Formats: sequence, structure tokens, C-alpha cells
Amino acid sequence: MIDAASSATADFVVVANRLPVDLERLPDGTQRWKTSPGGLVTALEPFLRVHHGAWVGWPGVPDVEVEPIKDDDMTLHPVPLSTVEVADYYEGFSNATLWPLYHDVVAPPVFHRHWWNAYQEINERFAAATAKVASENATVWVQDYQLQLVPRMLRELRPDLRIGFFLHIPFPPVELFLQLPWRTELIRGLLGADLVGFHLPGGAQNFMFLARRLAGASASRSTVGIRTRLGEVNVDDRTVRVGAFPISIDSTALDKMARSKPIRQRAGQIRGELGNPKTILLGVDRLDYTKGIDVRLRALEELYADGRINADDVVMVQLATPSRERVEHYQRMRNDIEQAVGRINGEFGRVGHPAVHYLHQSIPREELIAFYVAADVMLVTPVRDGMNLVAKEYVACRPDLDGALVLSEFAGAAAELTRAFLVNPHDLDGIKSAIERAIRAGPDERHRRMRTLRRQVMTHDVQRWAQSFLAALGSDARS
Ligand code: ADP
Ligand code: F6P
Repeated sequence: MIDAASSATADFVVVANRLPVDLERLPDGTQRWKTSPGGLVTALEPFLRVHHGAWVGWPGVPDVEVEPIKDDDMTLHPVPLSTVEVADYYEGFSNATLWPLYHDVVAPPVFHRHWWNAYQEINERFAAATAKVASENATVWVQDYQLQLVPRMLRELRPDLRIGFFLHIPFPPVELFLQLPWRTELIRGLLGADLVGFHLPGGAQNFMFLARRLAGASASRSTVGIRTRLGEVNVDDRTVRVGAFPISIDSTALDKMARSKPIRQRAGQIRGELGNPKTILLGVDRLDYTKGIDVRLRALEELYADGRINADDVVMVQLATPSRERVEHYQRMRNDIEQAVGRINGEFGRVGHPAVHYLHQSIPREELIAFYVAADVMLVTPVRDGMNLVAKEYVACRPDLDGALVLSEFAGAAAELTRAFLVNPHDLDGIKSAIERAIRAGPDERHRRMRTLRRQVMTHDVQRWAQSFLAALGSDARS
């Protein structure tokens, strides 16, 4: 329920590029709010609702001025962006410079000085908006690569605040980060936080090395926090904590929904609609070139061509949320993927029985869970991914202990989900044989693997992630 809100301040504030809801303009000129894409929102929204906090972010469309709004248990504070700012700050510096650079340069990053200028200006705008929303001594939790300058800018405006920063994507190897013309500014921006968090210890180590090298931070020491090992660096007479906090999902809620009768019935219907194949393979991703959708389609195509599987028995469903559609690399990748789907169906499908069912749509949560319940093999094959929540969602949706997860070693989730069928996404033969093994695994093996995967996912949920981060930050907001 979305209503206009008063301008009261908050003790706990999340700052992210996007609000958890996007404003959508409909063809008839009206508008409505819909859930924003991506794992950041999936993870943080349930936590913030419980803590009645405020969320500062962009409403997802350019050139709109929206008043603060009350969305059930949280208050949303929209930060406006113009069309040019979206092009330069969001599509440009965030998604054509930082995104490919931080994902191991799987696409070449583009460096433009006017994009950098826009990035600085917009980070200033987010910092100023947050300074207005946060109460005296509030906890502010800044999210992700789009806002790496905000911690320092905000500290200058509001030294009373406790500031945490979490990076939802991989932090790159030192040699790659050093390519950035504005590397020192970004590191100094992050060092404005009291705590800087990454998914994996490797990211934290790279950051600490760069803090010393680029910002003159002094030698670190390690302390053991409540559930995590923390490093510390000293800079400008302050101590900044640095640690690894692998993000997760609301596992209990998903488990419960997956057990519900309507979802199980819908899962049965989905199997019927797909022609009752022996095996359903599933991919669920934002349509992003880091996700390795092309890689899994190539593996599938070769498996059909080799005769190792056939399209009467094994069908694939690929659900792909539209993403960053004006960025050139995304447009090219979409063409390639849609051509591959067409080629595979042309070669191996029959009338009324395609081999690959492809939806370029974001689908409702209940329907997505029914797909997880229906799928025999989940394919998660990114060439690089910070965590990948889809892998954890699939596991949480399998209380029946059935289903097999094929997971890239280059997803952060692989560090925890070691009993998945792990694959190197650059090794096509390896992916083919992992998919085949997952399809052919007997019930004993599937159950053994899934039981271990579930032990991890059900005990390490998003509440635990947020609480361990906020405990390391020394914030009261965790309780
Ligand atoms: P990223 O943050 O890069 O998008 P994650 O895998 O961590 O990747 O998170 C993606 C989130 O978006 C998950 O919660 C997933 O359920 C959701 N999602 C992905 N594709 C779809 C889709 N087609 N329809 C609905 N939700 C989707
Ligand atoms: O987790 C990575 C991330 O970029 C988030 O910051 C973002 O919310 C999500 O993926 C979706 O991306 P975008 O906001 O660019 O659509």
C-alpha cells in the first residue's frame, strides 16, 4: 500500500541506486509502482520492512519528481534523475564502466570523463538527500557500486552518522581496479564508511591492499567479530572495518511458499503445459552478459546435437528479466541469445513442442517459485557474479530434497554451495557433462546433495546476513 508520507527523519536508512519499487508509465498515460529488478531488492526489502526504516533511491524512470511515500512499513525517499543523468551516471559510468570492470572485464569497460563527472554529481545528490532523511546518530547503510562516493560525502555532511557500505557485485583483482583513472577517488569514497562489506574474503583483501596503496591507509589488523573475521585500516585518524558478509535470501519464507498447495499445483500444471517432459531445465536471470545464458544454451544445443539428450525428454525454460536495455552490450547480447533460442528450436523442436521456452519478462514471485518447484535441474552459469541469489532461491524451494543445481564456480554462491554440480563456465565440455550428470543423477545422489545445500541456505539467511553486518557496524538497528 503506497501513500504520501510526512518528512519525518529515520534512525535506520538504506541508500541504493533504485528504490525497491519502480514507477512504470503505462501507455494510457497513467502510472503504477512495480517491484524493482535484481538481488539487492530481493535481499533488503524484507529486512527493512521489519525495521521500519527509510529507503533513499531513484524511482526508476527519468524526469519525475515524486514526493516521499509511505509503503506499508517503510518510507521511500525518491531521488530524481534527468534523462541525461540516467545516460551518463547509470547507463554510462555505473553500467558501462564499473559493471564490466568489476566483473573481470568480461566486456571491455568504457572510460569517459563526462560520465565520471555525472557519477560524482549524482553521488553528491544521494548524499545530500540522505543527510536530510537521517536522524541524529542514525545508522545509514549505503548499497552497491553506483554509490561508492556516498560514504565520504555523507560523512562530510553528517559526521554524527554511523555509515556502512556493502558491495553487491564482485570487487575486482587489484590489477584490474588499477585501470580506473579515478581509482583513488573511489577508494577514498568508500573509506568514508565505518564498515565496508563484500561477499567474499578475496574482495575484502583486495580492497585493503588498495586502501593502503592508493589512500595511504596504515597497516591493518584482524579482529574476530560475532560471526565474521574483520580487517581494519586506519585513515584520517579513523578506523575503517572491512569484512566479508555473503548475502542471502529469506529462506524460510521461500521454503514455506514452496510447500504450499497452490504452488505445488501450479508446478504440476507447468510440467503439463511443457508437455510432461522427463526433465525440465531452468534458467532464471536478469538478461545480463555476466550471467552466462549464452554458455548454457550452447551446451544444451551441443547435447541435443550429440544425441546425448533429446528434446522429447528434456526441455529448457529460460526466464529473463529485461535489464539495462539501452546499454549497447546488453542489446547485442539479447540479439545473440534470441538467435540461439530460435536456432535450437528450429533444429530440435517440433510444432507445439519447442525445446527451449524463453520469456523476456519479469514474472510474479509465486509463479517463479512454482517454476523452481517444477524444475528438475537448475542452471546457474555466470562467467562472474557477486553472489547469485537465484541459486539459493532454488535450494530453499526444494524441501522435497529433489532437484539438482548446476552452478558456476565463478558465482559467489559457489563458496557456500559446494555440493552443487560445480562447473567452470569457460569449459563447454565440462558444462555439458555436468548438465548430463545432473539429469541422470539418481534420487539418492540428488537427495544427498540437496540436503547439504539446504543445511547451508536454511541456516544462513538474509536476516543473519543483515544482522552480522549491522553487528560489525556496531549499530542498534540489528535488533
Ligand atoms: P542480480 O542481482 O544480478 O540480478 P541475483 O541472482 O542475485 O542477480 O538476483 C536476481 C533476483 O531477481 C532474484 O531474486 C530472482 O528471483 C529475481 N529474478 C530474476 N529473473 C527473474 C524473472 N524473470 N522474473 C522474476 N524475478 C526474477
Ligand atoms: O546486484 C547488482 C545490481 O546491479 C543491483 O545493484 C541492482 O539493484 C540490480 O543488480 C539490478 O540492476 P539495475 O538496477 O541496473 O536494473
